[in-house]
Amino acid sequence: MLKVHTEHRAPKGFPQGFYWGGAIAANQAEGAYLEDGKLMSTADIKSGGFFGGLRRDADYYPTHKAIDFYHRSREDLALFGEAGFNIFRTSINWTRVFPTGEEPQPNEAGLRYYEDMFKEARKNGMELMITISHYETPLALVDKYGGWDNRVFIDFYLKFVETIATRFRGLVKFWLTFNEIGNAAVVPICWDAAGIHPQSEHLTQRMYQAAHHQFVASALATKMIHKIDPEAQVGAMIAYKTVYPFTCKVEDVKAAEAAKRKEFFFSDVQARGYYPAYIWRFFEENSLSVEMEPGDEEVIRDNTVDFITISYYRSRVVSSDYEEPAEKTTNTLEGLVNPYLPKTDWGWSIDPDGLRLALNELYDRYQLPLFVVENGLGAIDKADENGYVDDTYRIDFMAAHVRAMREAAKDGVDLRGYTMWGPIDIVSNGTGQMSKRYGIVYVDLDDQGNGTGRRSKKKSFDWYRQVILSNGEII
Ligand code: BG6
Repeated sequence: MLKVHTEHRAPKGFPQGFYWGGAIAANQAEGAYLEDGKLMSTADIKSGGFFGGLRRDADYYPTHKAIDFYHRSREDLALFGEAGFNIFRTSINWTRVFPTGEEPQPNEAGLRYYEDMFKEARKNGMELMITISHYETPLALVDKYGGWDNRVFIDFYLKFVETIATRFRGLVKFWLTFNEIGNAAVVPICWDAAGIHPQSEHLTQRMYQAAHHQFVASALATKMIHKIDPEAQVGAMIAYKTVYPFTCKVEDVKAAEAAKRKEFFFSDVQARGYYPAYIWRFFEENSLSVEMEPGDEEVIRDNTVDFITISYYRSRVVSSDYEEPAEKTTNTLEGLVNPYLPKTDWGWSIDPDGLRLALNELYDRYQLPLFVVENGLGAIDKADENGYVDDTYRIDFMAAHVRAMREAAKDGVDLRGYTMWGPIDIVSNGTGQMSKRYGIVYVDLDDQGNGTGRRSKKKSFDWYRQVILSNGEII
């Protein structure tokens, strides 16, 4: 278990031993989608990110080649080491280890790839934080059994967990059971997260049932990992968007509170160990039901997470008069616009103070160690002929968010680490674009996969290095 803070006087800045690094996901970076025994996952049939739709007959799938991290991880990890990272977050592609999800024995080539890569990361000075399921599930399992609302997925997942926890015992310090677990219940991400097609009938019902199975799977995985490797710690990972009411009209404030609870539901279950009363009421009022088996509630109660991690990109505004469309076709402007905040090239609000509020709220609610495991600026970069990008805008974005975290630490939040999203440019999960870049390292590839794939440092590379070297003092 991670030791929870007992010192109630807040530190002056980031604590000693703070983790600084970057985070990627296997399917957005590795490519090599059918190599060394790997088969297709749900992520491999997204032709243009999750907003672009699911097609099996598209001409081009950006994740199939991605940035070829599969073959270039040595070079990329060396760059991260040079930037001073002491932590690296990535995920394990389930279909490298169990290509159809049902093999009696794991695929040795897949396990060896991760073992070598993890050792390489350690050699470069990084601890590992591994997401077990980051928006991909073996396609063969989904084709045969449907999505995660089918309970059979729990056992397939646990077999995967047992295999990787055993093989990587002593190598991986932090495990995250599901990326942004709440997004299994969000359209259209339910496909990536739970293998449920956004056009399915009884969609909401199916998504909450899938979420229940993921809660049980996550709790059993937590128990299993603690047993296999008592030194390892297991965390929740939620997508956090700080919610503001559109006005101070009481109806808007109530709508904002309801929206918050819909998202807190997931971390409440994983951190507190039970379904809160408000969700039962929500189920009842919306004619939803979740089937549980005897023992599920005990499993969830007895195996809560050691820490909580969030992705934080933006805040959002909620009004009682406006309902977000269930299906969005683009991930540019989402919902109501906050007129007080600037926006990214993709229309996401830029709100570093929202991160400080988020961290305080989460810590007040759970009193558990926190990590920010995704945060960054998706922007259009223009590289010169040497691949250099003057991304001062990215430095400004990250600096403001690092300052906000420092303030949160000074507020007394037990914040343990920060892994910026996409330290090297990767394929966007939402849109499938390469041109939505987050990296401090540029990759010469365009939206159709044309380019040399050459890596080069952006201006933000040196900036982040200095932040890390100074443990967040020089920003
Ligand atoms: C998070 C996901 O929601 O946001 C990542 O965990 C994703 O996989 C990131 O890449 C940024 O979103 P996008 O759509 O800009 O890639």
